[in-house]
Amino acid sequence: MVEGARLESVCASNGTVSSNLILSTKFIQLAVELQFLIGNKRILGSMKTKLVIFGITGDLSTRKLLPALEQIISTGNFDELSIIGVSRRTLDIEQLLDSSLGSRGLASRMTGFSMDVSNAEDYLRLKDFIELGDDEQVLIYLSVPPVATPHIVEFLGQAGLNMPQVKLLLEKPFGVDLDSAHQMIDHVAKYYAESQIYRIDHYLAKEMTQNIVAFRGGNALFDHVWNRSAIEKIQVVALEKIGIENRAQFYEQTGALRDVLQGHLMQLLALTLMEIPRDFDWNDLAGLRLRALEQVQLADPALAIRGQYDGYADEAGNPGSLTETFAAVELNSTSPTWQGVPLILATGKSLDKKTTEVRVYFRKHHEAQTNRLIFKIQPFEGVEIELYTKKPGYDRQFEIQRLAFEYPEGVKLPDAYEQVLVDAINTKKNLFATSHEVLRAWEILQPVQQAWGMDPSSLEPYTKGIDLYRIIG
Ligand code: BG6
Repeated sequence: MVEGARLESVCASNGTVSSNLILSTKFIQLAVELQFLIGNKRILGSMKTKLVIFGITGDLSTRKLLPALEQIISTGNFDELSIIGVSRRTLDIEQLLDSSLGSRGLASRMTGFSMDVSNAEDYLRLKDFIELGDDEQVLIYLSVPPVATPHIVEFLGQAGLNMPQVKLLLEKPFGVDLDSAHQMIDHVAKYYAESQIYRIDHYLAKEMTQNIVAFRGGNALFDHVWNRSAIEKIQVVALEKIGIENRAQFYEQTGALRDVLQGHLMQLLALTLMEIPRDFDWNDLAGLRLRALEQVQLADPALAIRGQYDGYADEAGNPGSLTETFAAVELNSTSPTWQGVPLILATGKSLDKKTTEVRVYFRKHHEAQTNRLIFKIQPFEGVEIELYTKKPGYDRQFEIQRLAFEYPEGVKLPDAYEQVLVDAINTKKNLFATSHEVLRAWEILQPVQQAWGMDPSSLEPYTKGIDLYRIIG
């Protein structure tokens, strides 16, 4: 079962990690299979691939995609990968690589293609330039502002750049609400089959996000207590210290709910709630996530709050801005496993720290008990359980300690964008969002979006650098 390879590649490459992670027979079996595959030189990524990046000089490309490409190519497993960088002006590849990576190693793999993305004929030129062979695939990565995506998709489709060997990689936001998401999905579906579309939610591809599945599925300790009888509440939080930086235009049209909560946090929630069957297969992951989201009830606006940090409106150049830089909602699930357990999602910018975690609070039998288990997604990656222990000494006193799993120092965890690119090349779709998931997440949040749209006074100011828990209580 090759789908298990991602988890096991971490395990197999490091004995220490392996002993910590692989606790179930199933995972051991997968690890053995991976070694078998490597031993037989069926190396991942061997298909001839042309990766076309629209927006090659943009922020995402220079900060995330080029470093990720440099890294995956350095593994030696992607000899057949070449990159075509699309830009309006003639691309100076060496200058781009110098400023993004500080090295020019990728230059031999890259060519530039300059075009006007609003000119249909240029897409025909691009098609000729790509020269797609029968044994090759093309990945078209749209790293462009959201407003440009529908037009580019239309031109690509009209130019016939949607043959079966073409994969389309799309960045969020996938619409701004339920209606626009429907429209966007239908529009892309005019030219591309769902199997060709890779909707990127980079949180799904983070190492620790995948580890939620491993920890929950592979350890009886977690398995038996993963339900409403034992769990009192779940919080999924993504806090950022940074503000909107130089993305005012994007952020003004987006806000915290659309930017992070609708996609990233909903996906983390789905992984936390979803059923992990005994015969779990990574290929079923998207379906399991969707099932969990289908059981989450539509959000109640009375259980949602939004805020804007002081100074945001000036920074965004829009004095009357009603864009939220903080959003939190409390959701509920109708599933018999989770009914009645508050599911709290919260995200914000300009808070006191950068932290993404899933906090699971167990029901206490009395006050003097600890009850917290934390999946730490970033910046520290691991799992932490709070434990009461006896304080060393003659007195019988207790103190809270932390039982933690962390990756051994020096273990390099892949960046989410490395994972995204590797999986797209290898046609592994389980860490990408399906159209159904995207629509369901918008549907859940629709009542809140509508209520906020009608009530400007629901936007509360907050002081930069504030502690999240002073906002959500
Ligand atoms: C992006 C959002 O999707 O995720 C940004 O558009 C946010 O606003 C970013 O800063 C956070 O990603 P990460 O991986 O740094 O947590």
